[in-house]
Amino acid sequence: MQKKYLDLKNSIEYELLETAGTILREGGLVLFPTETVYGLGANGLNEKAVQKIYKAKGRNPDNPLILHISDYEMLKTIAQTPTKVEKQLMEAFWPGPFTLVLNRKPIVPNIVTGGLDTVGVRMPSGKIAHELIKYAKVPVAAPSANLSGRPSGTKLEDILSEFKEKVDYIIDGGLSEIGIESTVVRVIEEVPHILRPGKITPEQIKDIVGNVIIDKNILGEISNDEVVMSPGMKYKHYAPKTKCILVYSESDKTLINKITEISKEYKSSLILCSSENENSYGDNKVISYGSKQNLEEVSKNLFTTLRKVDEFDVDIVIIEGVKNEGLGLAIMSRLLKACDYNFIGV
Ligand code: TXA
Ligand code: MG
Repeated sequence: MQKKYLDLKNSIEYELLETAGTILREGGLVLFPTETVYGLGANGLNEKAVQKIYKAKGRNPDNPLILHISDYEMLKTIAQTPTKVEKQLMEAFWPGPFTLVLNRKPIVPNIVTGGLDTVGVRMPSGKIAHELIKYAKVPVAAPSANLSGRPSGTKLEDILSEFKEKVDYIIDGGLSEIGIESTVVRVIEEVPHILRPGKITPEQIKDIVGNVIIDKNILGEISNDEVVMSPGMKYKHYAPKTKCILVYSESDKTLINKITEISKEYKSSLILCSSENENSYGDNKVISYGSKQNLEEVSKNLFTTLRKVDEFDVDIVIIEGVKNEGLGLAIMSRLLKACDYNFIGV
């Protein structure tokens, strides 16, 4: 049997990615690391290959996929000529954790776009992802590697059991550098609208083009009949199996008091908090997602920590929120979804 696993955790032998590139081009499924999260990749121009992604994830077919490219030549094949603002954003944030929703060309199969006229495009900066796409020689359709509704995969051990029987090749790149998915932006009348917050913050976007709108659906619960700009907004996401509740206060003292009070209402609870507050909850079970003074660290740990909470077998997970600005916006949007919008602000 052909070897199916490539370990590039501590190696820069990127030429070994040629096999995986060929598998992708020829219609196989490849699990691979990017700088944001792991992706479940297929040839983005091959309808049958893309179908396998939806099947493996159990993803709703109206939820479109991002096409990953390695250079601007590839971009020309799938998207219409970008506008001035779109071009400025690409130049500022590509390669990197940034996805632009662009008008598509007819070559992009309907199954990739969920039938929309637009296509999400990203040029990753992760070296493995970049080289893999180069070897594939085609745009690579890749959602985050997780079963639909589960936290995204940021290390192989977390997702192997979900996918090892379903993919043709697996690349291990260790823990993802960023840990949360790319910022998704659509430019409308030359104004960038953030459809999903991510590593690239609203402030950074505003600095480049002078303007930014954060879509109102990012932090709010969406009713079933609402028309949204990005189908992914509608779906339950990142959820541990245990019920979770998110609590935030600007004051640590108020936050700790409120969380302690909630924990007493349940027979068993787990508190997910910043390392600063780890020792403030007495006898309660506690795990930390890292320092709230270092949101890069929190984003890196977020999904692996959310996956861990189910191991504690408790009635409730109470999560400390972070300040909702900069990278904090992306973190809070994931936490709100993980808690199914069960939020208490004090
Ligand atoms: O960092 C990332 O973006 C990762 C890595 C693997 O690149 N990918 C990722 O893909 O997070 P996925 O499929 O899990 O999330 C893509 C999001 C979805 O919420 C989807 O609805 C939205 O982007 N999206 C994709 N194409 C779109 C389009 N044409 N219009 C609006 N939203 C779109
Ligand atoms: Mg996803």
